[in-house]
Amino acid sequence: KKVSVGVDIGGTNTAIGIVDESGKVVAKGSIPTPGHGDIEKYMDDLAAAIRKLINSTEEILTVLGVGVGAPNGNYYNGTIEYAPNLSFKGVLPLVDLLKKRFPELDYIALTNDANAAAIGEMIYGGAKGMKNFVMYTLGTGVGSGLVVNGDLVYGHDGFAGECGHTTLIPDGRLCGCGSKGHLEAYCSAPGMKRTAFELMAKYNAGDSLLADKSFKELDSKAIYDAAEQGDKVALEVFELTGKYLGQGLADTVHHLSPEAIFLFGGPTAAGDYIFKPTKESMEEHLLPIFKDKIQILPSELDSGDAAIVGASALVYKEMEK
Ligand code: BGC
Ligand code: NA
Repeated sequence: KKVSVGVDIGGTNTAIGIVDESGKVVAKGSIPTPGHGDIEKYMDDLAAAIRKLINSTEEILTVLGVGVGAPNGNYYNGTIEYAPNLSFKGVLPLVDLLKKRFPELDYIALTNDANAAAIGEMIYGGAKGMKNFVMYTLGTGVGSGLVVNGDLVYGHDGFAGECGHTTLIPDGRLCGCGSKGHLEAYCSAPGMKRTAFELMAKYNAGDSLLADKSFKELDSKAIYDAAEQGDKVALEVFELTGKYLGQGLADTVHHLSPEAIFLFGGPTAAGDYIFKPTKESMEEHLLPIFKDKIQILPSELDSGDAAIVGASALVYKEMEK
């Protein structure tokens, strides 16, 4: 059976999947993404984990290649550069480091994590057949993948689509990248937490269901659960997050005129709590020529596997060339 390996590098975890040509994950595992910069050790661990997974299946597998999605991953030169949400500082030559460990493989490629999700959506998900769409991923950071005229947009240096770093609020909250007021500082998972804490302080809301949660516990799931019980703070967190996100999406629509924007990541599990205010806010900011024309859709990729499936699909895109 022919398979490709998909790797998704996140802030705390690196997920690995062995994926067949239909997009089905035949084996998966993960290793921690180290909180320090020992790159050679991390790459040794990653290579070992990949080989172990390949050998774990009963079927005989022909491995076509490895595709990696990572924050601030650059497709052109195969490096991860200055990622605000990873511990590796500077430029990490990821593809070269992996090629040394897998000299037998012809296709080893890296792209931005949100680009990988967009590729997955395009090949296996709701964007099949769409020529122009955008993927927004909401997680530790906010990423985006832009598909224009059927192709992922990389731009001059390979970094196109950093929509999470769109400035929403001049002199607003500090973003992980060091600038202020970026969309990511409001609509990422940590951004939503911050909104929750700010609202609780503002209303002195000791009675909120979120009040006794630690910073760690207060994730988008906890906010969703509280919203389901009518918690005012939780409901307002979604309202505000949607308001900010919709503003950012409207900018993206003005730039690219997509058919649809897909949302992916933990907060999207909250359904209408997040989609409704996002849509309203987007419509409010759109030029009349775009009004009521742009769909905002949940990603159709199974959220647990989307990132690795998208990353593995990068291998097939490489082989098409
Ligand atoms: C990074 C992007 C990444 C996103 C999601 C942002 O902070 O700049 O490259 O796609 O987080 O991980
Ligand atoms: Na991107």
